[in-house]
Amino acid sequence: MKVHILGSAAGGGVPQWNCACAGCTTARRTGAHRTQDSVAVTGDGTAWYLLNAAPDIRTQLTTAGHLDPGPGRRDTPIRGVLLTTAEIDHTAGLLSLREAERLTLFGTGTVLAAIPLIPMLRHYTDLDVHELPIGDPLALDGGLTVRAVVVGTKVPRYADPGVGDAWVSALRITDDRTGRAFVYATCLPGWTETFDDFLKGADTALLDGTFLTDDEMSRETGLARTPRQMGHLPIADTVPALRRHPDMRAVFGHLNNTNPLAGAGTQAPVEVAQDGQTLEW
Ligand code: MLT
Ligand code: MN
Ligand code: ZN
Repeated sequence: MKVHILGSAAGGGVPQWNCACAGCTTARRTGAHRTQDSVAVTGDGTAWYLLNAAPDIRTQLTTAGHLDPGPGRRDTPIRGVLLTTAEIDHTAGLLSLREAERLTLFGTGTVLAAIPLIPMLRHYTDLDVHELPIGDPLALDGGLTVRAVVVGTKVPRYADPGVGDAWVSALRITDDRTGRAFVYATCLPGWTETFDDFLKGADTALLDGTFLTDDEMSRETGLARTPRQMGHLPIADTVPALRRHPDMRAVFGHLNNTNPLAGAGTQAPVEVAQDGQTLEW
């Protein structure tokens, strides 16, 4: 299985266009930019699935190389998009996929009901929408199976909270041939027993790296909200829980521009995802 990190930043990216914080200023100077959270996964190297569609998706896809179209004029290796939230940073890229001849989307019933782009996109492409079952396995092309678990209830600011309660999910994608698994959980408000079980035996996990510490947001922005209230367990609180998974490779993605590790590159004390990186096992 291969996981290509298309983008490793939280909403806004690094640097954020209107942010003059220390991290964004440094990123502007060094050119160490991060685009917003989205990854591509394949089991056979031929059929790829996108996990979320960041606003940066067009550039992410045109620079990825192995996601190029062909051999037919409109053939694409992208078989579908799996959405783990309905947030703008995970869904706005759907607009840039409207040129597809057919676009297959997966999400919880809540997420699919909430996204206003879905009715819009039906005017542009043959939209094939599938509800992601919670807990039950779903077969994907290329010898992969996906299972979803609901991890959070945070409603995007624009959305109608009445459409359901499966707002934020994590995905476990298993290679059918080897049984080896990848967990994607870049929006994780807390570490529950359910999530700990979901992670058991996974080879690699891309986890919530939005914030490093609990006081980061208040120190950087003066806002009183804590990372947990924003739906993101800080890395410092995830690290102790990872001791229960000593054989798993844990990589942190969806980094906010306040996170000091966003500019740390390979010097970081934990493994931080980099745009363009491939995780393979
Ligand atoms: C989040 O991850 O919490 C959201 O994407 C926040 C946002 O961009 O509004
Ligand atoms: Mn986000
Ligand atoms: Zn900033």
